[in-house]
Amino acid sequence: MSFIEHIPGTRPVVTPARHPRAIGVGVLGLHEGRTMLAALATRCAHLYPAAGCDLSEDKIAASRREWPDLFYTSDYDAMLARAEVGVVAIYTPDAQHADHILRAFRAGKDVICTKPLVNSLDAAREVLRAGRAAGRRLIVAQSTRFFEPFRRQRDAFERGEIGAIELADAHYIHRMDWYYRKSPWAAAETDWIFLGLSHPLDLLRWHLGPIKRVSAMGSRSRMGGSFGVRGFDVYLVNVESASGALGRAMGHYGCHELPRARNCIELMLYGSEGTSLAQYHDMRYVHTTRPEPQPRRDGGFDPGALGEVVEDFLYAGRHFYFNSEVHGMHFGEFANCADAFGRALIEGGPCGPDLEEGVETFCLMEAARQSALTHQPVELEPLHDSVGLRRED
Ligand SMILES: NC(=O)c1ccc[n+]([C@@H]2O[C@H](COP(=O)([O-])OP(=O)(O)OC[C@H]3O[C@@H](n4cnc5c(N)ncnc54)[C@H](O)[C@@H]3O)[C@@H](O)[C@H]2O)c1
Repeated sequence: MSFIEHIPGTRPVVTPARHPRAIGVGVLGLHEGRTMLAALATRCAHLYPAAGCDLSEDKIAASRREWPDLFYTSDYDAMLARAEVGVVAIYTPDAQHADHILRAFRAGKDVICTKPLVNSLDAAREVLRAGRAAGRRLIVAQSTRFFEPFRRQRDAFERGEIGAIELADAHYIHRMDWYYRKSPWAAAETDWIFLGLSHPLDLLRWHLGPIKRVSAMGSRSRMGGSFGVRGFDVYLVNVESASGALGRAMGHYGCHELPRARNCIELMLYGSEGTSLAQYHDMRYVHTTRPEPQPRRDGGFDPGALGEVVEDFLYAGRHFYFNSEVHGMHFGEFANCADAFGRALIEGGPCGPDLEEGVETFCLMEAARQSALTHQPVELEPLHDSVGLRRED
C-alpha cells in the first residue's frame, strides 16, 4: 500500500478498518513500546493492541489512561497466557530481548522484536535455534526501513532505477545524554554498535546483500565517558559484500548535532544507473533521474543528462509519521512495520527482516564490534557458523 493511500493529503490520520482476522498484540516494555501501542491503535488494519506489560506501574498507568480497555500486567507470563495475544511486541532493554523472545516462542506467539534483535553471540544462537524449532515467525522492527523516504528508495532500487549498488554510505548520529538519563542500561548493558549502529548496518545489509568482511574503528566521546559508557560510542565501519560492493556506516552518540547539514539517519546509494539519498527525519528523498534523449532538428538525438529530484514529504506525511508533531518519533514507521508483519501472518508471504536475516545483521554488528576492539578485519563466515546460520557463498 502506498503512502498516498495511507495519508490523503495533509488530513489527520484516520484509523483504517480492522481486518476481520486481525491479530491481537501484547506490547512488552511501555516506553518506546507505547509508541507501538499508538501505532497499533490508530494506523494498523491487520494487528490491534490487546495488552501491555511493564515492570513499572507508572508506565502502565500512562498507557491505561490512553487505552483503558487493554489488559495490563507487570507479569510477562500473565500476558503470554492471554488467548487474545497472538503476537508479542518486545520493547525491553537490549540485553533482555533474547529471554523475552524465547518465552514468547514457547508460549506459541509470533514476535515483533525491536532492534537490536539480540546483543550477544550466545543469544543469537539460542533464538535462532528456538525460532526454527517452534516454527513461529519474527520480524526485527528495524524502523528506519519503514520510514517513507527509505521505502521509496528501496522501491526505486527494486525497479532497477539505481542499478547495481557499488557503494552505500549510511549513518545514524544522535546526541544521547538524554537517553543515558532515561535508560542507564544503555551505558552499562549494551554497546552502541547494537543500540545505534543497528540502523545504518541494517540498511547496508538490506541493500548490499550478505556481507563478507568488516573493518571498523571505535572511540569514546567525552560526553559518553562522562556517563560511564562501557564500549565505544563513536564508530566507523567499512564493509565488503559477498558480491564485492562496498559500504560504510558511521555512528556518533556524544556529538553536537547539526541536523540542517546532516539528518541523523541517512542512506546514500551510489549505483550503476543512479544515485539516491534517503533522510530521517526531514523526510526527504533525493535522487537522480534517467537521462531522457532529446530529439534534434536534424532527426538525431542528444543523449540528455541525469536530472536531480528532491521529494519532500514532511508536510504531507507529518500526521502519519510524527503523530501531527513537527518532528515526533516513530509512529508511522512502527505502524508500517507492524502492519506489514500482520498482513504476512494473515495472508502468508515473506516479511522482513525475519529471524534469519536479523541474526545475520547481528553477526555484522558483532563483527564490527570485534574489529574495532582488535584493529583487525573480521570475516563474517566464522560468526555465521558459530550461531548456526546457513553458509554464504
Ligand atoms: N527506532 C526504534 O525502533 C527504537 C527507538 C528507541 C528504542 N528502541 C529499542 O527499544 C528498546 C527499549 O528502549 P526504550 O528507549 O523504550 O527503553 P526504556 O528504558 O525507556 O524502557 C524500557 C521499558 O521496559 C520496561 N521493562 C524492563 N524490563 C522489563 C521486564 N522484564 N518486563 C516488563 N517490562 C520491563 C521498563 O520498566 C521500561 O519501561 C531497546 O531495545 C531500544 O534499542 C528502538
